[in-house]
Amino acid sequence: MISALAIRRAMEETRARTLRLFANIDDAEFRRQAHPDFSPVGWHLGHIGVTEGYWILQQCKGEASRSAFYDSFFTPTDNPKPNRVHLPTRAEILDYLASIQESVFAFLENTEFPAAHPLLGDANIFNMLLQHEEQHNETILMILRLLAAERLDARQPLTPHHPALLSSDISAPNEHEMVSLPAGPFLMGSDNRGTTLDNERPRHVVAVNDFEIDHYPVSNREFLQFVIRGGYGNSQWWSTEGWRWRTQQRITHPLYWRQSATGEWMEIGGDAVAPLALDRPVMNVSWYEADAYARFARKRLPTEAEWEKAAQSGLLAMTARVWEWTSTWFHPYPGFVAHPYAGYSVPYFDNQHRVLRGGSWATQPHVRRETFRNWYHPWVRTVFAGVRCARDCAREPVHADSSLSEDLH
Ligand code: AVJ
Ligand code: FE
Repeated sequence: MISALAIRRAMEETRARTLRLFANIDDAEFRRQAHPDFSPVGWHLGHIGVTEGYWILQQCKGEASRSAFYDSFFTPTDNPKPNRVHLPTRAEILDYLASIQESVFAFLENTEFPAAHPLLGDANIFNMLLQHEEQHNETILMILRLLAAERLDARQPLTPHHPALLSSDISAPNEHEMVSLPAGPFLMGSDNRGTTLDNERPRHVVAVNDFEIDHYPVSNREFLQFVIRGGYGNSQWWSTEGWRWRTQQRITHPLYWRQSATGEWMEIGGDAVAPLALDRPVMNVSWYEADAYARFARKRLPTEAEWEKAAQSGLLAMTARVWEWTSTWFHPYPGFVAHPYAGYSVPYFDNQHRVLRGGSWATQPHVRRETFRNWYHPWVRTVFAGVRCARDCAREPVHADSSLSEDLH
């Protein structure tokens, strides 16, 4: 039984959270493009409203567009990123959002959810919109971090207000609890069209070899060893592409790590610089860095099937702290059907995006589940993404030992 009231409450909660993100942003920041890969935060706000209006008011209710300008300005494929700084004012965008949502709530009061309806069946379009807004919330947070880091970097020199990180702090062995899974098929993905997105469907059998996977994500303490032992300067750990990337971009540490003049490692988090929290999962690394770290640790990244199988088995700890890069390119599952929003997944099945699994501290509940697939280009570091490594199970060496010769008797 679907409750229109419950949907409305969830949409209100998510919207309140969206608006709170803008509480401390000035108008210049609202429209600034902090990074070529990302739109201004104000663009995301308008895009949330346009998407909601398009699917509910235009597609479900049959209303005409309220603003051709908004529809094209806030549709990614119609408006290239560099142009997105020419936004309407914040007050105007907020009014637009409120008026769309008011009409959506009015529509919701009188609607039913006939199972055969492609959008309203199982209220799938409302769940899609909730998840869409929450995903954009996380993207907004990523951009706010970038802006905060710029401000902090401008305030040189960095002065830690804590004792220096001693070398003894980082001498913990690179040993890491792993769990092992036996070989065998499992059911990957979902058939629940009410709560999942098109790329998670359909559910299908996948055979997986036996493997081991880290119980915990890689910590800052572990990743610091990679940094200190010259991991960023040693091509043997890196893929060809990754090595080219780190050389061209002169990458020497995770995005928000900083080193003080006296050599202390710190991290920019929120609006402060603090000593690196060694026990926290490493965060804001690209796929290239994650892949290189895994090789340094004599491991590899898990495939997304391995990740999902291990998650289903309840074997992964701390899956809600950082997104976890997998070795899998983002591809459709066999039998994939785009629904309802063809632009959601299909344009990214291009062999250029790596799948991330799990979720971060910034991921909201409607998005967090074992089957959810996130994806980014392998060079992106702004995502709250970290690393969990895997490896093949050790094979017993085959040689004629005493037990074998006994069998022969
Ligand atoms: C799934 C987070 C990679 O934000 O680019 C939002 C989701 N697609 N609007 C993104 C998405 C269209 C997507 N990610
Ligand atoms: Fe979107």
